[in-house]
Amino acid sequence: MKLGRLNHVGVATPSIENSVALYRERMGAEVVRDPFDLPAQGVRVCFVDTPNSQIELIEPLGADSPIVKFLEKNPEGGQHHLCFEVPDIEVARTFYDGKGVRILGQTRIGAHGTPIFFLHPKDMGGVLTEIMESPKQAH
Ligand code: CO
Repeated sequence: MKLGRLNHVGVATPSIENSVALYRERMGAEVVRDPFDLPAQGVRVCFVDTPNSQIELIEPLGADSPIVKFLEKNPEGGQHHLCFEVPDIEVARTFYDGKGVRILGQTRIGAHGTPIFFLHPKDMGGVLTEIMESPKQAH
């Protein structure tokens, strides 16, 4: 198992529109991707690019969204998860499973179109951690 680069920091927000304005106007971000729905995760997603990584803005998609509770506790939004790349998602899953790290749900397709899964924050020092397979072509 080889841990790869930090792909993105997930930031939950009640409003992608307001957060994009904040990143553009207050932070000076210049590259903001088009928002899109990710129904499998129950979120609407928008990537803000930085030279070495991305911020993944996530807004609830529907009342059953997994980030509804997070936003009840953090009404203005906040840092939600870290996402690291790995070369092979199945190798990574077996690796974390073998260490007794709890994996949340099935491996599924994430916001970059590659397989992902989440590790339980209680086994990761309080940090909800997303593991994603690196995209095959340059991005
Ligand atoms: Co993410």
